[in-house]
Amino acid sequence: MFVPLLALSAGFMAPSAMPRTLAMSKVTMGEGGKGFGGGEATRDPEPTNVDPNDPKGKQQAIHKAESFSEYLAKRSAAPAANGASAASGDYTCTWLSPAEKAALKATADAMSAPCKGFLASDESAGPWLRAGHVDAAKVGDTAENRAAYRSMLYQTPSLSQYISGVILHWETLFQADAAGNQMVDLINANGMIPGIKLDKGYDTAGIPGTAVGPLGHPETWDKGIDDLDARCKEAYAQGARFAKWRNVLQIDPAQGLPSDLAITLCVNNLAQYAVICQRNGLVPIVEPEIVPNGNHDISACAVATEKVLVAQFAALKAHGCYLEGAVLKPNMVKNGLTGPKATPEEIAAATITVLQRTVPVAMPGIFFLSGETALDEDNEEEATNNLNAINKLAPNTPWSVSFSYGKASQKTTIVTWMGDVANNHAAQQALLARAKANSDACKGTYTQGACASVGVDGNIQQAAGAY
Ligand code: 13P
Repeated sequence: MFVPLLALSAGFMAPSAMPRTLAMSKVTMGEGGKGFGGGEATRDPEPTNVDPNDPKGKQQAIHKAESFSEYLAKRSAAPAANGASAASGDYTCTWLSPAEKAALKATADAMSAPCKGFLASDESAGPWLRAGHVDAAKVGDTAENRAAYRSMLYQTPSLSQYISGVILHWETLFQADAAGNQMVDLINANGMIPGIKLDKGYDTAGIPGTAVGPLGHPETWDKGIDDLDARCKEAYAQGARFAKWRNVLQIDPAQGLPSDLAITLCVNNLAQYAVICQRNGLVPIVEPEIVPNGNHDISACAVATEKVLVAQFAALKAHGCYLEGAVLKPNMVKNGLTGPKATPEEIAAATITVLQRTVPVAMPGIFFLSGETALDEDNEEEATNNLNAINKLAPNTPWSVSFSYGKASQKTTIVTWMGDVANNHAAQQALLARAKANSDACKGTYTQGACASVGVDGNIQQAAGAY
């Protein structure tokens, strides 16, 4: 089901995102660098801020204070000039140099490693309310709890077997846990790539004059473009190698939602974000989420999703986005929350049909969000089963078809943890089990019910709105 990815899991990490010790072993092994094209070009830069007095050897945190331009300047293979490359056959997106493209592609390929997905842990108010569980909602939403919980998540042994990238909230990117460990160091040391959520959410006042949709407010677009360039630079210097931006669209066929105006704003806002990220060395996750709220059937979602993705890739082209260095995070094609329920097989067929019609093969990976689910559904199992059905139906897609789940990765984990470090090990096992289930679903080999979950007991409304 996968493109012959240049970067095949073990030994590979995105440019300068890995601890120095791992970087050394990659170079000396002489093979892990295939993702960069081999040879000197594969080497990671020297540490920029080695602290010889650091008792824990944190000098491995090579990300600190290194900008993307510094990284490129150090790459021995970095060509000086912008321009087309006859060898690659790539004559467009020439505003990025071949070296910049190579770095972005290496990261995007590593993110899209076979059977790996993302852990979306960038919830603004902590994951407790998003999870949609009566017990999870009792965990205190403090900075200390968020740090303790996420530090536990990121240190889950062997998590990198199933997770390539971890999406962080801005707070977490600069946060240390109680033991003084920077979160980005924990993620790198555990073999995963840190990424950063960069949208600043939306105002529910929305786009003037647009209809109020099933979310109870007009259509929206996201804030955050004005200072995005500076925030990208900061995030890169702190270790982020990819980014996320989620725009929200609503379905209401009777009112013509999503409207052409909202789609135009959504996809151009995302495309502008994408190229600003790429200019700064961050691989953009492009997320035009059409939320499932409403009573529509699956066909309405299919129509809207196809229309939005056609517009999205046209906008990415118009803005000059380098597709090989970007990934897509779409909704699956599903029925509305209160609409007639579609089976996983119907969801798979509609989703694959839409993706095949809209997503260029130049893009290495497609990573679904899990999305809001009905109260009588087990959101974790639903998300795994649907992804499984998709990959079972279409085992030979040109992209990695994988997961970037937040709620559906963490509900059982949070309920197992409940703010008590004594539960760390059990919570890590829950996270690992669901991550493995989703990885199996990337192969279409997951057996329904094989992964333990808290199920539907205790389900409450999942917090909606800006992530
Ligand atoms: P879900 O919680 O719906 O999986 O969404 C994850 C995410 O990152 C949304 O942007």
